[in-house]
Amino acid sequence: MTVGMGAVCTTLIAGVEAIRKGLAKPIGSLTQMGTIRLGKRTDANSPLMRDFLPLAKLDDLVFTGWDIFGGNLYDAAKTAQVLDNETLEKIRPYLESIEPMPAAFDQHYVKRLTGTRIKSGKNKRDLAEQLRKDIQAFKKKTDRQVVIWTGSTEIFLEPTAVHQTLAAFEKGMENDDPGIAPSQLYAWAALTEGIPFINGAPNLTVDIPAMNELSRKMNAPICGRDFKTGQTMIKSVLAPAFKARMLGVSGWYSTNILGNRDGEVLDDPESFKTKEESKLGLLEMILQPDLYPDLYKNIFHKVRINYYPPRGDNKEGWDNIDIFGWLGYPMQLKVDFLCRDSILAAPLALDLCLFMDLAARTPSLRGLGIQEWLSFYFKAPDSAPGVYPEHDLFIQSMKMKNTLRHIMGEDLITHLGLDYYGG
Ligand SMILES: NC(=O)c1ccc[n+]([C@@H]2O[C@H](COP(=O)([O-])OP(=O)(O)OC[C@H]3O[C@@H](n4cnc5c(N)ncnc54)[C@H](O)[C@@H]3O)[C@@H](O)[C@H]2O)c1
Repeated sequence: MTVGMGAVCTTLIAGVEAIRKGLAKPIGSLTQMGTIRLGKRTDANSPLMRDFLPLAKLDDLVFTGWDIFGGNLYDAAKTAQVLDNETLEKIRPYLESIEPMPAAFDQHYVKRLTGTRIKSGKNKRDLAEQLRKDIQAFKKKTDRQVVIWTGSTEIFLEPTAVHQTLAAFEKGMENDDPGIAPSQLYAWAALTEGIPFINGAPNLTVDIPAMNELSRKMNAPICGRDFKTGQTMIKSVLAPAFKARMLGVSGWYSTNILGNRDGEVLDDPESFKTKEESKLGLLEMILQPDLYPDLYKNIFHKVRINYYPPRGDNKEGWDNIDIFGWLGYPMQLKVDFLCRDSILAAPLALDLCLFMDLAARTPSLRGLGIQEWLSFYFKAPDSAPGVYPEHDLFIQSMKMKNTLRHIMGEDLITHLGLDYYGG
């Protein structure tokens, strides 16, 4: 169940259908193409993850969702302009068969959009209960469900008293508390129905104590926020490399141009602030300036996003990185990533749906609330109170693979490897 059926969502659903029909390959998806090593390197045993794990099969996936605009997914995919007409025509009847349900929406939280198919209710609780009914109806047609927010970026919100406990949150919904955004209503509805909730956007949604409490109570997993797709993914590779070699960083300037609807929404300063916070957090976490003041204490980090319609979904992200080496001598690195936003995001959304469904079926994981092992996919990973989140892509990857081994009762891999040398 996807909340928001725009560029990422239609690229996900159209992509899954195209793959099911043998028209394309699931490039970028770990669950579909990744392998996992089991045992020692000399065992030569690296099955595909999808053979090793009891993941849902692509053929068994059924999609539905909500949007503030009407029209079927073929029309939505045409509007998004991510996939070419040739691909879309081949799966047109399937896409035409899916229409979004009316949304819980309030323009206060996404200023640049004016919705046309929106639920009305006497208060936020009422809207959330209507979402629960939608979920209950889908439960009758399917065996298991996952809800994923592929909706627009909402305005920047900071946690307040209403987010601290489940009781306060539920009262807040009745009182129409302004701290409760539509995305939180979907999350509450999903978790209350015992269903995992994934947040692909940077909004404050499940990373609040009230949702953590609800998630644990209902055995309905939650995870981080904001898909780590393009510029931030590269950042979470480069920054650990500098740190691993003890190279200093004095400045990191990142700018983007993009022209899709997401870019239009992010053109609003309040939505941009949400994205900015999500994109800024990781450098400090990775570089640990407190531990390495000589290398990272004075880093100047800036992130800009500019709405530039001619590029559509084909984003360009530039990074200028000022680094310094031996005796403080300065150097520079420039990255120009001509990427495709939704092409990068869709496989992540797929993996997250399949892994969160697996987490919900795994006794040792489902009661934990936050699934920190899925940090790999997020710009802003969630973690237990007092535990700093892990941002380094390779630590995240190792952590995820070890969690998968743990789920299946296999030995964890520490990479110590002394035994190969008789140690
Ligand atoms: N690489 C990426 O594409 C990427 C990476 C990280 C995060 N994201 C985030 O994913 C989200 C989706 O991106 P997109 O490019 O698909 O955007 P999009 O604008 O094409 O689609 C978002 C959809 O959400 C709908 N929507 C907004 N509020 C809603 C609500 N309350 N209920 C139901 N529907 C609602 C909009 O009508 C729109 O159709 C954005 O928040 C974006 O920041 C995308």
